[in-house]
Amino acid sequence: MKIEENISLANLNTFKTGGVARYLIRAHSVDDIKNAVLFAREKNIPFFVLGGGSNILISDQGFSGLVIKIEISEVSWIDKGDFVTALIGAGENWDKFVSLAVEKGFYGAENLSGIPGTVGASPVQNIGAYGAEVGNTILWVEIFDTVALETKKLSNLECQFGYRDSIFKKPEGKNFVITRVCFKLSKETELNTNYSDVKKYFVEKNIKDPTISDLRSAILEIRASKLPDLKKYGTAGSFFKNPIISKKDYEELKKKYPEIVSYEVVGQNDVMKVSLAWILDKICGLRGAREGNIGTYENQPLVIVNFGGGTTTEIENLANRIISTVKEKTGIIIEQEVQKLK
Ligand code: EPU
Repeated sequence: MKIEENISLANLNTFKTGGVARYLIRAHSVDDIKNAVLFAREKNIPFFVLGGGSNILISDQGFSGLVIKIEISEVSWIDKGDFVTALIGAGENWDKFVSLAVEKGFYGAENLSGIPGTVGASPVQNIGAYGAEVGNTILWVEIFDTVALETKKLSNLECQFGYRDSIFKKPEGKNFVITRVCFKLSKETELNTNYSDVKKYFVEKNIKDPTISDLRSAILEIRASKLPDLKKYGTAGSFFKNPIISKKDYEELKKKYPEIVSYEVVGQNDVMKVSLAWILDKICGLRGAREGNIGTYENQPLVIVNFGGGTTTEIENLANRIISTVKEKTGIIIEQEVQKLK
């Protein structure tokens, strides 16, 4: 096992900011993770688990502990009759897995096309887009418990999936490192084209009976038109979650802003999810707000962009300005979606 020292973390995350990691280990197996954890214990330093680095904000001061970068690879498909299972290593690229599933005609992941990051990171924040959430296709998640030093399987229910949430974000899951994810994909045609941008796309293109590959192409095109190109800019996508507020607060807001975009939350009748992109744009005037090298994206103000040469401190400054403006104008306290490494 190779232990790298004083490694720049800016090259390992999509914001392209942040300082240096004292140590870095690339884990290709569960054994590598175990040895990495033992190394951190022996040195008495903290460790941090990194996937594709596409949803993380790393301090400019770097990290004085050990970064364990998950690079476990595996792709295996098992035919179960009506459906297939896909057992995927945590280090595999998420979109590579989606494109393989689409190619094979297995349904369930196509709406999540084009999301950056690794398969192992996908359950952590229960990645979601265009009417789908990864939690709906996951059968179980294999984890390595860094305290008990053993692997375990968590059922879908045990993962406690919610909106951009799971056990892996909670104290009870903080010792778990995801090593493999088992997906259940359908062999029957089951396309979800209800999301408004998707519907609009197919009407405009005059595609009446889209195939799974049409849907993937649609999603990739819509994403490209709304979200910044990672090859050009630094970003971690949506920086904040869409706030979930009480129906009472929602009614008040709606009185003031009748056009506000909102969504029902499945299984929760007393709350509403409101579009923060809409609030930032129409109420706060923060669409395309710019502070030096950092700004909100013109086509999607929920996305913070490093236009080049920006720092984590600058990102945090703009984020704080957004938090206080939203609070002042709407009373809503917004939550960060992007994870922090301090
Ligand atoms: N809007 C504006 N002004 C704008 C842009 C958008 O008012 O400049 C309004 C529009 O009314 C639009 C609404 O905002 O209908 C919602 O925008 P969008 O459909 O782009 O989705 P979102 O709710 O802002 C969420 C996810 C995205 C995901 C999209 C598509 C969160 C925090 N974000 O964004 O996920 O791609 O839906 O399903 O839930 C990510 O997590 O990194 C991410 C990009």
